[in-house]
Amino acid sequence: MKEVDKHMQEEDNRIVTVERREEDSSFNGLRPKRLENYIGQTKIKESINILMGAAKKRGESLEHVLLYGPPGLGKTTLAYIIANEMGVGIKVTSGPSIERPGDLAAILTNLSENEVLFIDEIHRLNKVVEEVLYPAMEDFGLDIVIGKGPSARSIRIDLPKFTLIGATTRAGLLTGPLRDRFGLISRLDFYSPEELKKIIMAAADVLGVVIDEEGSYRIARRARGTPRIANRLLRRVRDWSQVKAGGKITKEVADSALAHLEVDDMGLDNIDRKILKSIAEKFDGGPVGIDTISASISEDPGTVEDVYEPYLMQIGFLDRTPKGRVLTRSAYEHIGMKKEGDTSLQEGLF
Ligand SMILES: Nc1ncnc2c1ncn2[C@@H]1O[C@H](COP(=O)(O)OP(=O)(O)O)[C@@H](O)[C@H]1O
Ligand SMILES: [Mg+2]
Repeated sequence: MKEVDKHMQEEDNRIVTVERREEDSSFNGLRPKRLENYIGQTKIKESINILMGAAKKRGESLEHVLLYGPPGLGKTTLAYIIANEMGVGIKVTSGPSIERPGDLAAILTNLSENEVLFIDEIHRLNKVVEEVLYPAMEDFGLDIVIGKGPSARSIRIDLPKFTLIGATTRAGLLTGPLRDRFGLISRLDFYSPEELKKIIMAAADVLGVVIDEEGSYRIARRARGTPRIANRLLRRVRDWSQVKAGGKITKEVADSALAHLEVDDMGLDNIDRKILKSIAEKFDGGPVGIDTISASISEDPGTVEDVYEPYLMQIGFLDRTPKGRVLTRSAYEHIGMKKEGDTSLQEGLF
């Protein structure tokens, strides 16, 4: 097997990946439907509440909303909640699946009044498609060119008023003109273990899983601040507990299950540890560029930047400097290594 293929397969099998996996679809029923059941993200919920209140009062469609942040934090969930709270329908598409301006025109002309159009991965819209979006967002208009050559002329047709909700993991890749057309731009943050514990308890309730608070907290602490991972770990731990421990998830059961799944106490799996070790062993702790790190573990730089790095930075294992990524002391400690020339650690430890 080629190294890259092997790696992709590893990524497919990765339990703590933030990417959506097939098994996650069985969790669709876990998506909260009301804003009040959406845990955490207090500031965003407040802004959205205000925006919704204002729109309802004026009897208008909600302003366009851009949600950004790492995968699995609840962007799609929030889009569905907004449509639900506004009492309108939602059409769902994604940047890469809208290939031509005509594709977008077809979607836009089929919207109902006040409906939500959710475009996932909106940073991947191509330029010509994006230009169709500008007048649609701004004036609810669609410019169509009729005819060819010198006799060609452009006519504008009116679109229903709608709300665009865009989601992206890379707000930095959005063009200025697109960004400027959103009424609200919100960044989702990683969740605290306490918040994830609540999400796990609620999910367990829906799934009929017996779990106590301590058991939930053990899983929550290893879920990398990410609800999608929390839900997935819950299911894996449940499976393990049914076979090995009679089904009830306690602190001890959760610990054994997670050890079996090779998720360590920081929520890192083998691939995360591979990244950290690679920076330590091959690049002396950095600074090293994201492309070089990615190549050393046969991974796509975009994936490393979107999927792996944010959490490693969040927990203070990686620092971003102008010269590249640098491994921190706590990262060295975590992988049981010592930075060369660093005498501040006790010899006896290693
Ligand atoms: N704030 C939240 N409260 C409860 N569950 C959540 C929350 N955010 C996300 N989830 C759960 O996590 C899963 C992943 O969320 P999703 O909206 O698909 O993330 P994203 O679109 O940002 O990748 C959902 O299935 C949902 O059940
Ligand atoms: Mg999503």
